[in-house]
Amino acid sequence: MSKKRIVIVGFMGSGKTSVARELAVMRNEGWVDLDARIAIAQGRRPAEIIVAEGEAVFRKIETTELQKVLSESVDDVIALGGGAWIMERNRDLLHEHDAITVWLDAPFDLCWKRIEAADQLRPLAASREAAQELYSRRGLAYGLARLRVSVADEPPREIAKRIELLLQQQLVI
Ligand code: S3P
Repeated sequence: MSKKRIVIVGFMGSGKTSVARELAVMRNEGWVDLDARIAIAQGRRPAEIIVAEGEAVFRKIETTELQKVLSESVDDVIALGGGAWIMERNRDLLHEHDAITVWLDAPFDLCWKRIEAADQLRPLAASREAAQELYSRRGLAYGLARLRVSVADEPPREIAKRIELLLQQQLVI
């Protein structure tokens, strides 16, 4: 049986990138951040693409890049951007590749605190109200992930340890 990909999903500011990195280190596996891949492929970051071309164009690019990452079979842990799992096409792709999706379920206030504090531009969360609305709208879709981990403001390594334990308990790997 081939090794399954572990894919970290969740809202902006939930800690996907840091947790994916810690989990990969812990498991001695490679990891990739989809937004970083998009930035390399496109020569500009997702936020810049969204501002310049609109969200729909960005979503197409995102799906193309996800397809490439999944076809490479190099990195075993993948951090998605916050909206990637919301797109049905991307969920289908991940199912086709038998990925194990893990939702980092972080409270909105924690996500917002991090969004506000970050240097990073996040055009889809330009105000607290816009971010809150998006957070509420996406909740159901995130719930479609295979595993759910409730996260608080804690070190990414602790969260990665909990995920590892959960994976072992579920006998999914
Ligand atoms: C987005 C989240 C961002 C990035 C883009 C769109 C979203 O990634 O992919 O700005 O729709 O939630 P992070 O979740 O890493 O901030």
